[in-house]
Amino acid sequence: MAWPERTIGMSETDNTWFLPGPEDTDRLASAVAGSLMELSREGPICVALQGELGAGKTSWVRAMLQGSGYPGRVVSPTYTLLEPYSVGEFTVLHLDLYRLSDPGELEFLGLEDMVAPLTIICAEWPERGEGALPSPDLELRFSYKGEGRQLRILAFSEPGRRWLETVRLQASKIGL
Ligand SMILES: Nc1ncnc2c1ncn2[C@@H]1O[C@H](COP(=O)(O)OP(=O)(O)OP(=O)(O)O)[C@@H](O)[C@H]1O
Ligand SMILES: [Mg+2]
Repeated sequence: MAWPERTIGMSETDNTWFLPGPEDTDRLASAVAGSLMELSREGPICVALQGELGAGKTSWVRAMLQGSGYPGRVVSPTYTLLEPYSVGEFTVLHLDLYRLSDPGELEFLGLEDMVAPLTIICAEWPERGEGALPSPDLELRFSYKGEGRQLRILAFSEPGRRWLETVRLQASKIGL
């Protein structure tokens, strides 16, 4: 029997998951948060979070932070643009650039000086900060699907691809 040919690209089922309810978003995000943070030892990691209003970007970041032991409240950076979090030796910079009128405004936040190893940038509405954000290692695309959400993950770097493997493993472990 010949093996199916799978040399080019990936099939959609390899990087797309259906998250039936908010608790599934939380479970998956918690399960893969630690390994995302570990990636940043080699250099900063940038995650672009895509999806319409209410698609689940903030929920994902909140679950990642809480799942990795952050004890405090995680609020949406809608008005502050940036909320920084210390999680053990890591720093998570949660950005929401929806209200950014010009990428140049990011300079005022001093983002450039914060981007270092052990730092993970999670940016909602990253296209509004184009040119002022590091290029993404990963893109997480959330969309509405029935009562739940669909998550599609694209990896653009070697660390990003390694993490995508982890997500596959963890998602199947928790039955997603
Ligand atoms: N898998 C899921 N199925 C159904 N609802 C979900 C799921 N995951 C999260 N939600 C819900 O969807 C909403 C997502 O809101 P959230 O603030 O995370 O969206 P957002 O993408 O950050 O929007 P914005 O662009 O306005 O910042 C929350 O009410 C959350 O409970
Ligand atoms: Mg949000």
